[in-house]
Amino acid sequence: MDGNGRWAKKRGMPRKMGHSKGAEVFKRTVEDCRELGIKYCSFYAFSTENWQRPKDEVDALMKLLDSYLDDIQTMARKNTKIIFLGDKAPFEENLRLKMIETERGSAENNGLHVLIALNYGGRDEIIHALRNIAEDIKNGAVNTDELDEQLFEKYLYTKDIPPLDLIIRTSGEQRISNFMIWQGAYAELLFTDVLWPDFTKKHLMAACVEYAGRTRRFGGV
Ligand code: IPE
Ligand code: MG
Repeated sequence: MDGNGRWAKKRGMPRKMGHSKGAEVFKRTVEDCRELGIKYCSFYAFSTENWQRPKDEVDALMKLLDSYLDDIQTMARKNTKIIFLGDKAPFEENLRLKMIETERGSAENNGLHVLIALNYGGRDEIIHALRNIAEDIKNGAVNTDELDEQLFEKYLYTKDIPPLDLIIRTSGEQRISNFMIWQGAYAELLFTDVLWPDFTKKHLMAACVEYAGRTRRFGGV
């Protein structure tokens, strides 16, 4: 969901206004996914690297997150399963509790799955998995020779979630920026110049049409 800052700058507004608009677009896009019958949608909301931004921007993002976690809880009432990807430890306690509560409260839902990456990094996720695997090898729960891709995936934040089909990156940048690097190994990539706050259902539908026209071979012929 890239381009919030540039969207605001173009309008002579502070960056945080772009983030507010981006958060609204996130909410609307979840509903668009639901209407289109998409089963899983993932959003990269805050990366492990985003903490390096100026303090006032990080503070504004945390404030926004606090209010959006309430909206996300409402979302969860529509048989929606909410999963947060990333280490929750660095967030303030009230944010952390809201995240845990939302996950717990929606765990049995089986409609749309919404994955929200917060303090998430693909490399960080792999190291986190490795630490836990090493622990389980040490305590005898896992044998080194059992370790394969399937077992490894059980240690990722996306445990039991299918791999990515399509990654859409907005704002004209053509890179993955540490987003689900394991899960996206065979994902179709779509780069659009549209800034995230301008992203609409029309763009989402166009992305689905583009995706439908791709041939996926997964290394076969
Ligand atoms: C994405 O928009 C939102 C977050 C990373 C939280 P940016 O803030 O990266 O917007 P640009 O790239 O500066 O336009
Ligand atoms: Mg950016």
